[in-house]
Amino acid sequence: MEPGVEAGKDSQRQCQDYRGGALGGDLCEDLCEAGQLRYRRCLYYERGKKVLQADWRGRPVVLKSKEEAFSSFPPLGLLDGQPEAGGQDLPEAELLALAAGEARSALGLEPAEGGLGRLGLARRGPRRRGQLASLWALLRQEEFVLLSLLRGRSPHAPPVLGSCGPFYAVEHLAAGSPGHRALFPLGPDGGRRGQARAVSGVALSFLDMVRHFDHDFAHRLHLCDVKPENFAIRSDFTVVAIDVDMAFFEPKMREILEQNCTRDEDCNFFDCFSKCDLRVHRCGAQRANSNLQVVCDKIFRHWFSSPLGSSAVSGPLRGQLRAAVQECAAPGTQGAPRVLGRLRSLLQAVLRELRDGEEPRPGVRSRLHGDPHRGTPGAARKAPAVFGNHPFE
Ligand SMILES: Nc1ncnc2c1ncn2[C@@H]1O[C@H](COP(=O)(O)OP(=O)(O)O)[C@@H](O)[C@H]1O
Ligand SMILES: [Mg+2]
Repeated sequence: MEPGVEAGKDSQRQCQDYRGGALGGDLCEDLCEAGQLRYRRCLYYERGKKVLQADWRGRPVVLKSKEEAFSSFPPLGLLDGQPEAGGQDLPEAELLALAAGEARSALGLEPAEGGLGRLGLARRGPRRRGQLASLWALLRQEEFVLLSLLRGRSPHAPPVLGSCGPFYAVEHLAAGSPGHRALFPLGPDGGRRGQARAVSGVALSFLDMVRHFDHDFAHRLHLCDVKPENFAIRSDFTVVAIDVDMAFFEPKMREILEQNCTRDEDCNFFDCFSKCDLRVHRCGAQRANSNLQVVCDKIFRHWFSSPLGSSAVSGPLRGQLRAAVQECAAPGTQGAPRVLGRLRSLLQAVLRELRDGEEPRPGVRSRLHGDPHRGTPGAARKAPAVFGNHPFE
């Protein structure tokens, strides 16, 4: 069947339930009445989980739900006995307490002050019953809860744009894939130097994301599923974590890791490891590796570890980068902040070198000339770039 036809059926089902009052959300009107939200195609489907591409008021978006069928989510008991169009009189305090409980179990911690306001509980109106039922399905989706709470607080997480039923919308971004030569679609390649510049820009943003998730929240945010498909890039090379199903704040991470064990391998949870304490046969609650180590291992090694690959960057600098990435990716790396700082200055040196070696072409400006990344580079290297045959990789 044509993909568009299948997607059309998805929206018909949603809209039937919407008109019947069983589900709601701020995007339902655009989907079902105004024709402003159009499903385009299915990007991903596995065991009920659906990721759809759509157009919303002229912009490409992605709609996600852990379960395609609304009925697969447990219903909100409070709604029993409420008239179909009702739900106006539900006790606010009870609802808030229930929602806080759901958010707590999704995140493994108490949502910060004002955090629940981001979930849209306060919305009232004729369709409140369907809205609440839908919010309940959304609260069962850890990714929705996390992204809602991060909205406006992180350039590295996609803001939730709205929802209809169990589906929530985020921006459609350029997602990574192991099939791309450079893991991410880096745009019209602009030659070897353009490619090297793009890779360095994306790598710097990965480092900024790692620092941000390690330090900018009350608890460290651990990424346990690091692969190109789970990240996307914006046109300014900002890296965005588009799949945060396996991202956990420190308290939940500790809960997940603390299991019975007989050897260290029993303490591996995807990309998050701890060690088995053989005296008590328990995994340590403290994660033994880090976001930086996994990003170096799963992403950077692909770009910077080819021993033979010549590139648009001078040999010595390439060698230094390769060594730094290897050190960073090695298990049990100590002194992460130092490694991160070293990688950052090497990448900044690469950008400088590419800039210095660039032939000035009238009317053509390099994309990264206004380098948005923070930090002052070390002493400027004036050595001319040696251009090889391949981009980084
Ligand atoms: N915001 C987005 N923009 C573009 N593509 C996306 C977006 N979100 C998801 N995708 C695509 O859908 C795929 C599956 O989504 P994802 O959230 O990673 O699901 P899962 O948790 O099952 O891996 C991704 O690998 C990516 O290709
Ligand atoms: Mg994924």
